[in-house]
Amino acid sequence: MDSQQIRGKFRHWMISGAVAIGALGFLLGSTAGADDAPCKATSFSVAKVEKACKAGGRKAAKVVMKGVVKKAKAAGESMNCKTCHDDLKSFSLTSNAVADLKKWM
Ligand code: HEC
Repeated sequence: MDSQQIRGKFRHWMISGAVAIGALGFLLGSTAGADDAPCKATSFSVAKVEKACKAGGRKAAKVVMKGVVKKAKAAGESMNCKTCHDDLKSFSLTSNAVADLKKWM
C-alpha cells in the first residue's frame, strides 16, 4: 500500500466514523427518555407552561418550573417539584399546584 492508498483508507474511516457517531447521536437524542418527551397535559391552566410545552416538551416545561422554584425560594418559601407534583414521572398535580404556580409565575 503506498501512502496515497493509506490516506484514502484513512479518509474512508474518518467518514464512516463520523457517520456512525452522527447516527449514534441521533439514536441517543431521540431515545433520551422522559426529558425529551412531549408534555402529557392536553389542556393547560398556565399559558407560560403551555407555551413551553408546545415549544420544547417537558424539558422546556422543567425550565419554567425551575424558575418558579427559584423565585419562591428567593422569597423565603420552601418549595420543590413535589410541592406541586405527586411524583416526578407522571407529574400529576397536587390540589394546590395550579394556584401556587400562578402565584409564582
Ligand atoms: C408551584 C407549583 C409547581 C412547582 C413547584 C412545580 N410545578 Fe411543574 N407544574 C405545575 C403545574 C400547575 C403544571 C401544569 C400547568 C398547566 O396546566 O398549565 C406543571 C407542569 C409540569 C410539567 C408538564 C407535565 C406534562 O407532561 O404535562 C413538568 C414536566 C413539570 N411541571 C415539571 C416540574 C419540575 C421538574 C419541577 C421542579 C423543578 C416542578 N414541575 C415544580 C406546578 C408546579
